[in-house]
Amino acid sequence: MNNLSVDHLLGIKYLEKSDIELIFKTADNFKKIISQPIKKVPSLRDITIANLFFENSTRTKLSFELAEKRLSADIINFSSVSSSIKKGETLLDTVNNILAMKVDIVVIRHPNPGASVFLSRNIDAKIINAGDGTHEHPTQALLDSYSIREKYGEVKGKKIVVIGDILHSRVALSNIFCLRKLGAEVRVCGPSSLMPKNLESLQVEHFSDLKEALEWCDVANVLRIQLERQDVNYFPSLREYAMVYGIDKNVLDGLKKDITIMHPGPINRGVELSSDVADSSHSIILDQVENGVAIRMAVLYLLAGKIKLN
Ligand code: NCD
Repeated sequence: MNNLSVDHLLGIKYLEKSDIELIFKTADNFKKIISQPIKKVPSLRDITIANLFFENSTRTKLSFELAEKRLSADIINFSSVSSSIKKGETLLDTVNNILAMKVDIVVIRHPNPGASVFLSRNIDAKIINAGDGTHEHPTQALLDSYSIREKYGEVKGKKIVVIGDILHSRVALSNIFCLRKLGAEVRVCGPSSLMPKNLESLQVEHFSDLKEALEWCDVANVLRIQLERQDVNYFPSLREYAMVYGIDKNVLDGLKKDITIMHPGPINRGVELSSDVADSSHSIILDQVENGVAIRMAVLYLLAGKIKLN
């Protein structure tokens, strides 16, 4: 297969396993290209991309922008902090205005789950979900699985535990879908108060005990505590959370085997990970960042291939 089965990247839920494999194969090629002295290719020349960020972002926004520049696309950037959203404009109006400028692809991050699905139904452009509230963050899950594939050769059969604030994390849900589709075993770990109610329907097992989880897994994908999404106290204090669920060198040294540590960033150093773990040889956190650019180039390239030229 050399074409995606979807017209937009709205969530991992909508992808076939063959889509993910195609994205990885395409990312392999782009990774080779961006490792060379001349990193730019003309693949997306004359394609215009709007990056619409209605929520804060550093990594994802920079990563998309770099991927777009490496592909020679024309880019416009928009952030809600400095926009007319504050003046009461609707999402559809904002985006229609931007599309009147003849945009081909929209990359959107939005606090409302389903924002990207809404756009895909109402707007004539390819939509990429760069994170919609607590729902999905598909490019993050793709780059996470891609980094596991790079480290171990394949994702199938690997045991991955996602640790921390599963309840508020779009990274967790997208990871669960993506890893499952690729044949990995996925479980979660963290305090029960940070576990979503639908864990059972997702058929994901839960470890309350960090040590047990780490002894079970090959890879621990550690999440940030999303304080900005927590309207009540889900645990007594960050210090207490760190004592029970924080991973430091002592915890890793106490295990019977070596495991790989991942984190989507930004890290709360000293809370979910200590610095000596985040910066250790166990960690592939910076590989994730590097792979993010190749994965986003692949997604943009494959979706651009579906644009009908008039
Ligand atoms: C994640 C996000 O925004 O969902 N970060 C990211 O995309 N690099 C995770 C987080 O904010 O903790």
